[in-house]
Amino acid sequence: MSATTIVIFGASGDLTHRKLIPALYHQYKRERLPEDLNIIGVSRTKYEHDEFRASMKEAVQKFDGDFDAKVWEKFAPHLYYLAHDATKLEVYEELESDLKEIEGGDSDRLYYLSVAPFLYAPIITNLGKSGLNQENGGWRRIIIEKPFGTDLASAQELNKVVHENFQEDQVYRIDHYLGKETAQNILFFRFANTIFEPIWNRNYIDNVQITVAETVDVGTRGDYYDKAGVLRDMFQNHILQLLMLVAMEPPSSFDATALRNEKVKVLNSIRPVKPSEALFAQYNDYRATEGVDPESRTPTYAAVKLQIDNWRWKGVPFYLRSGKALKHKVTKILVEFKSPPHMMFQGAVGSMGGHNILSLCIQPDEGIHLQFEAKIPGQQEFRTAQLQFHYADSFDEPTGDAYERLLLDALEGDASLFTRSDEIEAAWTLFDPIIEYSERETTSSRITYQRGSMGPLDSEEFMEQDGREWRTSGCIHEDHEER
Ligand code: BG6
Repeated sequence: MSATTIVIFGASGDLTHRKLIPALYHQYKRERLPEDLNIIGVSRTKYEHDEFRASMKEAVQKFDGDFDAKVWEKFAPHLYYLAHDATKLEVYEELESDLKEIEGGDSDRLYYLSVAPFLYAPIITNLGKSGLNQENGGWRRIIIEKPFGTDLASAQELNKVVHENFQEDQVYRIDHYLGKETAQNILFFRFANTIFEPIWNRNYIDNVQITVAETVDVGTRGDYYDKAGVLRDMFQNHILQLLMLVAMEPPSSFDATALRNEKVKVLNSIRPVKPSEALFAQYNDYRATEGVDPESRTPTYAAVKLQIDNWRWKGVPFYLRSGKALKHKVTKILVEFKSPPHMMFQGAVGSMGGHNILSLCIQPDEGIHLQFEAKIPGQQEFRTAQLQFHYADSFDEPTGDAYERLLLDALEGDASLFTRSDEIEAAWTLFDPIIEYSERETTSSRITYQRGSMGPLDSEEFMEQDGREWRTSGCIHEDHEER
């Protein structure tokens, strides 16, 4: 049986420490990785194998609350380190012989690009030119981190380089939101049950609200973030992925092609967004961040209204919003249903006026809440009550980190939770104009919001102009403040 090798380019970087090695260690501990396994870090920094192991041990101890020294002793010998500058074609001959020496025979190989995005194309090209893409002695696959391009043109350019060197079925473009259990559960919730799907359409749903609120600010990533902004950083990828899972038609089977075909159909049905359907804002002291232009107009918050022009969703707006330096960390999807056609009861203060609300709480308190109207005992009025499901109460199994699932899937050759080239390009086609609106100097004066607040007040008006409001979900405890 051949070995399995994971080659991580950018092994001295933050992602390797924070996510990749802890995820691999965790899966090793749960005996989910192949026995004959090599994890080989490649970076320019000079390290001996043992120094790399020591630094990874520290990382796992820091990022995994459940460190087990005995398991680590067994895991550590699977780790290796090779110091190479992967942007230089001339090192690949030596890299290949180093890899072969460690592998000691035939081996499947998963390349992981955990490097700065401008290094993706040179490394992919070098893997091709050096023949390390060739499937002799085992399969070859490649994982590419986000961001995949900064607009449609650059994503197309990168896809071209990828396809010159790898077949699409060898390519795994990461969007870590798809690795979240709660994101995957959207499909199970919709398609492993009977009772929700019949009402999952324009006849019953009034609107859908997707919120990804973060308490963290831009921190030390000013340089990257000021060029990206919230639209490239969160909307074009993570939030759109959530939207696709909510809006897609049922695929005929749970396989990568069928699933991704349906997702792409949703993207292609979204109507181009008008300037009045997007709102941008910046937290008050963002411009003081290191690496950020003191005159920057880059949005750290945005709200966008999308309309899907198909039979299921025509006329049902999808409101998306995300921001940094906000009061709460919460990712949630609210499905607001229409009110009953004829209401014969009175709603008390605090009721939703007959609008049932289903909240898919993606993180941090993973679960599902259903808000419905109930009669107040002793009165002839109703008030909103909740049915709640929490993962923590219903399952013993840990939800695990998204990278654990995604690494395992790539090793098993399951690309369902990875983004296909046409999907990425359709997402940029939709977002390029919105990003352009956000960059227009003349569009509007810069809107700011207080760090630690719920976001700009304008976002309330943004909903009011449609006669709607951001609804509370119950996903976090400070319910009354959560909107
Ligand atoms: C990353 C973004 O892709 O996702 C970050 O670059 C953001 O800016 C992060 O903070 C959010 O991920 P999560 O899993 O914490 O919601």
